[in-house]
Amino acid sequence: MPKRYTITTALPYTNGPIHIGHLAGVYVPADIYARYLRLTGHDVAFIGGSDEHGVPITIKAKNEGVSPQDIVDKYHAIIKKSFEDFGITYDNYSRTSAPIHHETASEFFKTLDEKGEFIEETSEQLYDAEANQFLADRFVVGTCPKCGNEESYGDQCENCGTSHNATDLINPKSAITGNVPTLKQTKHWFLPLDKHEAFLKEWILEGHKKDWKPNVYGQVKSWIDDGLRPRAVTRDLDWGIPVPAEGGEGKVLYVWFDAPIGYISSTKEWAAREGKDWEPYWKDKNTKLVHFIGKDNIVFHCIIFPSMLKAEGSYILPENVPANEFLNLEGNKLSTSKNWAVWLPEYLEDFPGQQDVLRYVLNANAPETKDNDFTWKDFQARNNNELVAIFGNFINRVVVLTNKYYEGVVPEPSDFNAVDEETLAAIKAYPDVIASSIERYRFREAGQELMNLARLGNKYLADAEPWKMIKVDEDRTKTIMYVALQIASALATLSEPFLPFTSTKLKGILNLGSSAVETSWNEVSTKQTLLPAGHQIGKAELLFSKIEDETIQKQLDKLEASKKANEIANATVEPEKETITFEDFTKLDIRVGTILEAEKMPKTKKLLKLKVDTGIDTRTIVSGIAESFSAEEVVGKKVTVLVNLAPRALRGVESQGMILMTETPDGKLVFVNPDDAEVGNGLQVS
Ligand code: MF3
Ligand code: ZN
Repeated sequence: MPKRYTITTALPYTNGPIHIGHLAGVYVPADIYARYLRLTGHDVAFIGGSDEHGVPITIKAKNEGVSPQDIVDKYHAIIKKSFEDFGITYDNYSRTSAPIHHETASEFFKTLDEKGEFIEETSEQLYDAEANQFLADRFVVGTCPKCGNEESYGDQCENCGTSHNATDLINPKSAITGNVPTLKQTKHWFLPLDKHEAFLKEWILEGHKKDWKPNVYGQVKSWIDDGLRPRAVTRDLDWGIPVPAEGGEGKVLYVWFDAPIGYISSTKEWAAREGKDWEPYWKDKNTKLVHFIGKDNIVFHCIIFPSMLKAEGSYILPENVPANEFLNLEGNKLSTSKNWAVWLPEYLEDFPGQQDVLRYVLNANAPETKDNDFTWKDFQARNNNELVAIFGNFINRVVVLTNKYYEGVVPEPSDFNAVDEETLAAIKAYPDVIASSIERYRFREAGQELMNLARLGNKYLADAEPWKMIKVDEDRTKTIMYVALQIASALATLSEPFLPFTSTKLKGILNLGSSAVETSWNEVSTKQTLLPAGHQIGKAELLFSKIEDETIQKQLDKLEASKKANEIANATVEPEKETITFEDFTKLDIRVGTILEAEKMPKTKKLLKLKVDTGIDTRTIVSGIAESFSAEEVVGKKVTVLVNLAPRALRGVESQGMILMTETPDGKLVFVNPDDAEVGNGLQVS
């Protein structure tokens, strides 16, 4: 029975481009799901858009000296294009700055306000007197009361995912000035989550214990068990949707109040354009509403937004919220600020036309049940060993041989042997096998099943060896090629959700355009033949190509460069020492010298014993540089020496001075090296 589905994906903040973590956690699985449902005949509204309010955007605008609108315009366009480029098949991609969204969110707020679903309360909120502003959300950082993370934001801790009120933070500091905030009275509208606790318990804890993912269910349960409290849904900020109520002047809706309503606005925008009615997609009990999100969004989609929908009264609630965990990159957390990411626009520049490879690898490695790691080596291995060696190789053999033996015409089979029969039966099982994984939100497993079908094809050909059979039995060869072509056709249909660009290309190669040979998902199981004898296919084209080590090394080098840049940016700079007079300085007798001899001090790790020509004399200096230099390499080096330092015995050797050193970003010592100066010259200040 075809059903109606409303599928939403977290609206990305428009303060930067999107990276592989976003794609793996939210957009690839959602797109697989939406494509699959359409292929199986369901009525789908696949909804997305940009989240254009919120503090991170205003902070970015401030830093760049432009308006928040400039920032959101720029990144909305970039993000929207990335989704198109990667084949994310939204029915509508909107933005929360759109008038229809402002209207929809305002109306929603007014309805709740009129129904008495809010508590209005004047309370003390964190305030930065110097910046002359209240410190909501990301304008304040402090220690998370739950996990102790010292960099928690006012509304949410990114470490443990807890969502809290800014006043709950321990040791709060203004993110604008660094000041310790004061408290100032201000009025806000609160959504009393405690009032919805009983309903949430029944609906999720009892109703969805079995069908929601354990990571999602577990988080929700722990919040509910901790006890829910009223949450402010308005803010004293100037970027956002104005609070449509008396006393709301100068205040806006909290970004997490307006953003999820963006799903509804985007659906309305789509319906208006398509001449459809939006309401069944949000109000008909038979519609399945599914939210695709990352784990940091769970509380908002499982507790706050459902409480809003419930309070409004006319909406359906999500059937499932298949949130994913996080993707790491080469062992480290993805980070926008540290530039530790693979950005989608950059990926496309480096791997043009290879969207399916990334989609495939991200799905194969998706953080479905735990955080997972993306590595470039794994990317290369999955491309070379799976896409090229299995899928691509199978298709290429089938198409090349069909052209070679039969000028591209599907041959007439004769009797099927047991293996042929089994193989044909196995093909028919795949639509259900893959579907059952997809319907349980196990997209990794589904992707592997697709690859298993290609494996089946590869093995069938390798065992049947048509390239040998052609010399001894032409009829048998025809049967083999016919069976292999059926697998190729099934792959063209079933790969669409996972490898959409490849699927299109393959359908072109197999010439599946006309209705006579077009096969729907379900028909792969039911049709007598997927590619009938006599059908003309096209010429072979490469579906995937091998990725070489150099290509991968370039990506690793890029990441290494980010790491270096971060180290330099984060290198702790020693605070300036106490002021000294010029007379103090002139007491130091620093001269240029040359190292004449050097030897490692026995039984020490760090010490070299040096003979240094200072221009006045030749003296012994014991220097702690042995971890950065060997004795041989320092001989002959010009160095700067503090010559009037009181002699000191080090491990039984009298050291008569010290060498001036500094260090590189990775901690290696280097000489303060006066190459152009002459031995004996004194150091001067000017
Ligand atoms: N912008 C949020 C984020 O990136 C997600 C918003 S999802 C929505 O974490 F429900 F609010 F739309
Ligand atoms: Zn925390």
